[in-house]
Amino acid sequence: MNAPTARSGIRIRTAAVDDADTLVELASLVDLHLPSAEVPAALAPMRHALADTDDSPLSHRYNHFLIAEDAAGIPVGLLTVGPPKWMSDPTIVPKFMRPQIVRRLATIHMLAVRPEYRRRGVARALLQHTEQTFRQAGYAALTLRHDRDLVRFYRQFGFTTSSRLSLTLPTQGLRTVRERGWKHSFKVLSPDAAITIVQGMPTITGVVSA
Ligand SMILES: CC(C)(COP(=O)(O)OP(=O)(O)OC[C@H]1O[C@@H](n2cnc3c(N)ncnc32)[C@H](O)[C@@H]1OP(=O)(O)O)[C@@H](O)C(=O)NCCC(=O)NCCS
Repeated sequence: MNAPTARSGIRIRTAAVDDADTLVELASLVDLHLPSAEVPAALAPMRHALADTDDSPLSHRYNHFLIAEDAAGIPVGLLTVGPPKWMSDPTIVPKFMRPQIVRRLATIHMLAVRPEYRRRGVARALLQHTEQTFRQAGYAALTLRHDRDLVRFYRQFGFTTSSRLSLTLPTQGLRTVRERGWKHSFKVLSPDAAITIVQGMPTITGVVSA
């Protein structure tokens, strides 16, 4: 899947298994809020997921890995999306509901652009590409967590920001994810989902129908 972007010379493509080192290198531009010794282990699932392809609308089953390249084919940016970690927490999502939610909600794990290519629309192109893919795949919402200084950045792309991620699930009611030191942003992609205020917090509703 290749697509030229609005600004000349940059192309967005999905990653292949032999892009693992490139992804890891670009991922080093993201502050994961982890001691450096823990970063390789944190990125290990990404290498594993890169080997796991199927015929789903996403590049790698429930994950989507994008690379932005310049006109010479040099990788200049990455965006990785997949199921959020909290989806495996049974106190937040009951196990029986996981197969439904994993097809309706995904999290941007990493977005990074090489410093010398910033402010040229590369991140914008990666985000727009991602949004279009997940919208077409029938996803209800994209979420992510990020540093406080990127609130304005994500707001300009239509994300709602909060100190916690809230969603309602049928029979489960309000579910909340809070992670110290992170802001949460989310955007609905389908008309059957919405962001409404529940208990004073912006909350994603309609991820899974009752
Ligand atoms: C944040 C980051 C991905 C932005 O990439 P980029 O390619 O420079 O962004 P773009 O050029 O597409 O910018 C799109 C818009 O956001 C604005 N913008 C860019 N970086 C911004 C920032 N740090 N804060 C606020 N606005 C920003 C731009 O001015 C641009 O607006 P415009 O089109 O109206 O001029 C990049 O700075 C980066 O890799 N940072 C380090 C890693 C990181 O923090 N990633 C996010 C982790 S969740």
